[in-house]
Amino acid sequence: MTAPFRIVPLDSQHDRSSFHCGSKPLDTYFHRQVTQDIRRRITACFVALNQKNQIAGFYTLASSSIDLSSLPEEIGNKLPRYPSVPAVRMGRLAVSEHCKGVGLGGALLADALTRILNAEIAAFALVVDAKDDHAAAFYRHHGMIPFPTSPLMLFLPMSTARAVIG
Ligand SMILES: CC(C)(COP(=O)(O)OP(=O)(O)OC[C@H]1O[C@@H](n2cnc3c(N)ncnc32)[C@H](O)[C@@H]1OP(=O)(O)O)[C@@H](O)C(=O)NCCC(=O)NCCS
Repeated sequence: MTAPFRIVPLDSQHDRSSFHCGSKPLDTYFHRQVTQDIRRRITACFVALNQKNQIAGFYTLASSSIDLSSLPEEIGNKLPRYPSVPAVRMGRLAVSEHCKGVGLGGALLADALTRILNAEIAAFALVVDAKDDHAAAFYRHHGMIPFPTSPLMLFLPMSTARAVIG
């Protein structure tokens, strides 16, 4: 990414109303719902700010888990026989219409992985919900693996992220 953005937790000083990513449900969630979810500790939200402190992108993170039986066999077989393993879910990721294609989506994904790698609480993988095939293609482009029975849900083992991000 070449454009100068900084990624910080969303707070009340940030103007969410002028953010538009081209997906109405994502915009509506960000304008109307996200702060309630943060207050209730349902989600955390991080925003990319440009040099004028305008929001250029955001993502949300929350704790989650993965049923062992839903993982591809070759990955599940290497894990302990617990019913599920811990994960972090990126429920939403969006980049402003003005900032698409400059690497910000990839930078937000990398930022989320770095936060998870640096956290003291363990997670086996990052899980994402892609809203459609186009979004799923973005995640596959970044090495994420679709769940065999739900191709719009993808995951990336944190061991893989650590190897790539360091
Ligand atoms: C999907 C989205 C987050 C991508 O953000 P972006 O900032 O435009 O993407 P980037 O510029 O960071 O792209 C990084 C890389 O992904 C690739 N890429 C981007 N969108 C892609 C897609 N839909 N399919 C495959 N690859 C894609 C780019 O070509 C680029 O490749 P490179 O690093 O090899 O050059 C953005 O288009 C968006 O906000 N869309 C609307 C909301 C949405 O679909 N969110 C997804 C989760 S529900």
